[in-house]
Amino acid sequence: MNPSLGEFISHYQARIEAKLAQLLDNIDSHNTTLVAAMKHSLLGGGKRMRPLLAYATAQALNNANDATDNFACALECIHVYSLIHDDLPAMDDDELRRGKPTCHIAYDEATAILAGDALQTLAFEVLADSNIPLPPQLRINAISELARASGARGMVVGQAIDLEAVDSAPSISQMETMHKHKTGALIEASVVLGALSANANEQSFTKLRSFAQTIGLAFQIQDDILDVTSDTKTLGKAQGADIKRNKPTYVSLLGLENAQEKVRDLYENAIDALAPFGEQGQMLRLLAQYIVKRNY
Ligand code: IPE
Ligand code: IPE
Ligand code: MG
Ligand code: MG
Ligand code: MG
Repeated sequence: MNPSLGEFISHYQARIEAKLAQLLDNIDSHNTTLVAAMKHSLLGGGKRMRPLLAYATAQALNNANDATDNFACALECIHVYSLIHDDLPAMDDDELRRGKPTCHIAYDEATAILAGDALQTLAFEVLADSNIPLPPQLRINAISELARASGARGMVVGQAIDLEAVDSAPSISQMETMHKHKTGALIEASVVLGALSANANEQSFTKLRSFAQTIGLAFQIQDDILDVTSDTKTLGKAQGADIKRNKPTYVSLLGLENAQEKVRDLYENAIDALAPFGEQGQMLRLLAQYIVKRNY
């Protein structure tokens, strides 16, 4: 890994870990099991790719600040909620996540559902936090962006399409729609929230959205590839889970080599969109490379 990327990742992973831990410590809950389940899934694992994208975007615009921290926390809360629910018996029925038992295995199904629900609402509470200095319109834009990316026009509809697609062979274009929603939408929101925290101009938004949509699709195709090429220990989740449940993926539809080529093409297009950011966009470029070369 590029040394400056390595430093960036460890710095911001530690930073987001501390911010998330603080968030949960501040919850004055009547139910400690619920909070323990939230901690189990939110803390101590994961690549933190969505926060990293938000920080790298703010850095590309020369302005990472308190609002970026705040937005990064909200993004990870939504992501982890989506993982907890994705792993439930009614969805992918997985028992291992980030090298630990999934939330419903460590606790129980009802607690896992509620921990996901609570993380989702926590994300919006964090975005609305008036202690973070931010012009009201930017805050509203961030709330609106994350809400749209998470719900029936974003991640949730992607998950619904995913579940309906089990045991079928969708077209590539249906598959692309599914991936863009279940995973791409939140990746896009990560870059957009990073840009909002840095008060980007319209031109930058257009380029950054295009970058994020492209790398977001690549992210999920790489996830499909890793289900075949990686191993359970490295992934921290069960390898072969898609094949086991007969889930159509880019690999099952196109074959491994074509899926890998698709990822390379998307990566190149994503990098092209970053041209206007010059040297300041370097961390986003390195993160994009990491997304397509990662082995977990
Ligand atoms: C896994 O996301 C689920 C997808 C949307 C592909 P990540 O690969 O980012 O998982 P963590 O956060 O590193 O555990
Ligand atoms: C996950 O897709 C998408 C979301 C969690 C929104 P997958 O089901 O492929 O993710 P993994 O492989 O379980 O991490
Ligand atoms: Mg799934
Ligand atoms: Mg899954
Ligand atoms: Mg997967």
